[in-house]
Amino acid sequence: MKIPKPVKLIIKTPIQLLEGLKIKTRIYIKRDDLNGLLISGNKARKMEYLIADALKKRRDTIITCGPVQSNHCRTAVVFAKYFGFHCHLFLRGEPGKRYQGNLLIDKLLDAKITYITPSQYKYRDEIMAEYAIKIKKLDFKSYVIPEGGSNEIGALGYLDCMKEMAGFIKKNRVDAIYCAVGSGGTYAGLLLGKKLLKINVALKGVIIADTVEYFKDKILSICERAIDKFNMHIRINRRDVDLIDGFVGKGYGIPYREELKTIKDIAKLGIILEPVYTGKTFYGMLKNLRNKRYKKVIFIHTGGIFSIFAFNKDLTKVIS
Ligand SMILES: Cc1ncc(COP(=O)(O)O)c(C=O)c1O
Repeated sequence: MKIPKPVKLIIKTPIQLLEGLKIKTRIYIKRDDLNGLLISGNKARKMEYLIADALKKRRDTIITCGPVQSNHCRTAVVFAKYFGFHCHLFLRGEPGKRYQGNLLIDKLLDAKITYITPSQYKYRDEIMAEYAIKIKKLDFKSYVIPEGGSNEIGALGYLDCMKEMAGFIKKNRVDAIYCAVGSGGTYAGLLLGKKLLKINVALKGVIIADTVEYFKDKILSICERAIDKFNMHIRINRRDVDLIDGFVGKGYGIPYREELKTIKDIAKLGIILEPVYTGKTFYGMLKNLRNKRYKKVIFIHTGGIFSIFAFNKDLTKVIS
């Protein structure tokens, strides 16, 4: 199958030198947080292809899942609205007393939401599949998107990102790229791009939940499915997946002091990170760079700005 065309709702993002950080390595930031307003962040690149696929298959309802403050779900809701789909979210957790951050946007855009418990969430794929069958009887044609939009179709968005960066990487002899790993699709797409375009750059993924082994399996399986489906003439093996552990803290979405301090320091330089993904990843990158001789690296800013409002308390503590 040929690689499909994206819907082109996002705009191209700049690569910007981070000035003012007193370390030897030059850090460039791929500003994927600037690819749109409500759709800002990495999830939009994936949605470009997932929505294109849903349109091609003539579906009318997007079903997807994530935690209550999911950037992916918010992005899915915005794309769904723009392209005229219904949207149903299965969110892990509770709404809280007041809607805020991503959830507030989901609600404002009138997404249908079912809250599920963490133990139900383990069966999210089955729950979404059952729901799709249920609404089929009412004549709705569903398009089910897995957590984080991370499958062989969503990953194509990050193959595009690597294409956008290829010239810059070669011209500036960039040594490494760092990105967050939360459901694996971003890393998988970048890895596919690196192999297809034969780019000589280290690709470092900082895990923000689960374990390295879990994500190695997941990333490999996304890559293998993409290679199969789109007849890519490349090989990817376990050694190609280079993941960094040690920065999860107490768990997914739980910030810690050094991370929050990093967010505060980087914000002074004009870049806002958030506590779930980019804060942990940036902190992890800075620590990792201490053991490397890299001269130039790119940090992929994968967005997530709206979740800072749900972390108001933690962030207020470090900035006041
Ligand atoms: C802001 C942000 N950055 C990074 C990630 C991680 O990307 P991926 O899920 O493709 O591993 C996510 C989602 O999980 C995200 O919302």
